[in-house]
Amino acid sequence: MLGGAPAWGHPPPVSGRYSDPRLLAHGTPVYVYDPAVARARVRALRVGPAGPEVFLALKANSHPALLAALAPDLDGVDVASEGELAVALAAGFPGSGIGVTGPAKTPALLARAVAAGGVVSVESVPELVDLAEVARAAGVRARALIRLNPAERIHAFRVATAGLASPFGVPQEDLPEVVAAARAHADAVDVEGVHVHAGSQCTSDAAWLRHAVRTLDLADALARASGVPPRLVNLGGGLGVPTPGEPGLDVARLMRKLSGAVARFRAAHGPGVRVVLEPGRFIMAEAGVFIARVLRCPVSRGARFAALDGGLNAFLFAAERFHDGPPPAIRNLTCEDRPVVPVTVVGPSCTPLDTLARDVLLPEPRPGDLLLFEQAGAYGWGASPHGFLLHDVPVELMLDGDDVQVMVR
Ligand SMILES: Cc1ncc(COP(=O)(O)O)c(C=O)c1O
Repeated sequence: MLGGAPAWGHPPPVSGRYSDPRLLAHGTPVYVYDPAVARARVRALRVGPAGPEVFLALKANSHPALLAALAPDLDGVDVASEGELAVALAAGFPGSGIGVTGPAKTPALLARAVAAGGVVSVESVPELVDLAEVARAAGVRARALIRLNPAERIHAFRVATAGLASPFGVPQEDLPEVVAAARAHADAVDVEGVHVHAGSQCTSDAAWLRHAVRTLDLADALARASGVPPRLVNLGGGLGVPTPGEPGLDVARLMRKLSGAVARFRAAHGPGVRVVLEPGRFIMAEAGVFIARVLRCPVSRGARFAALDGGLNAFLFAAERFHDGPPPAIRNLTCEDRPVVPVTVVGPSCTPLDTLARDVLLPEPRPGDLLLFEQAGAYGWGASPHGFLLHDVPVELMLDGDDVQVMVR
């Protein structure tokens, strides 16, 4: 350990499959996605025909080729821009499988969403008014959910979007105002229910269940206040993926308990009410790795560094300033047998912000080695500032079974 900073142990090998020479034929840095892992995560959320529908939050990873590979396993997608909506439509999702969220939707996005028959999660009263105008202009009724920001913050969501002042949804205490607006615009907007996305990285199944039950209660409150029966409740995402050493969600137990809560809700409001989950990270994070090459190994005042050909420019959230908790698990893919040493892993950018993992214990990295970052399938390529310093944009590959495909955007 150097400088008194915590040292995170190096993780056990993922598997030998990422050493496949075909994955390195296109250079580094490179993202490699395994859709079978994402499919398994979707399956883990399935609890039979009466269970919640599983949407994917496309912001986690919107690569069209990956979505094409996963589309048969998904009931729908959450989109947050015209670009994501176009990707969803190209993948063949019908309007019933498209949810549209975001605090600053453009008029064009609202118009396209309405034309596609998607359901718009309305985040404020003025947005509801805009949606009504768009629908009237198109001569159709828009489908909408009221996105609510509940009064209570659930602290187990490491990144919180609800239970505090936020632009994400109408505060619960303003429900009467939004009900009045929905009544005034009922000619143009069909409010089908409630949407709550409470935040991200919740690794407590008890806390996530509390969020879900609270959301169903809010859907009940909206139905009572408006007199309109609920048809759709969106429970958002936020199912967490544990960092090394952290216990993960007990997904089987969570889904069992969630099914009970959904069954009680349907007993009160009708068997046809749709309930949707829209995780991003849970489905995609472990379905991808990021591999970068060590270019230099400077030693500075006793501290050892490994400088890679891809850093925050290629994988922003691997950088220590851009994630909470421990760094992502890193492996030395080239040699796992060398003595383990503390090393600070940095990217190629000329800024201390490009520090990926400080004093991490790794089999001694040498120039030419390949370092592999796990949990890179969500908020990786698509969430990174590729224009920063104009380094090469990382290659993306899909490893589906034994097939390696270069993914073109
Ligand atoms: C509305 C909405 N739904 C779902 C998600 C996915 O969150 P996560 O990746 O934590 O599951 C997000 C993420 O920001 C979001 O804003």
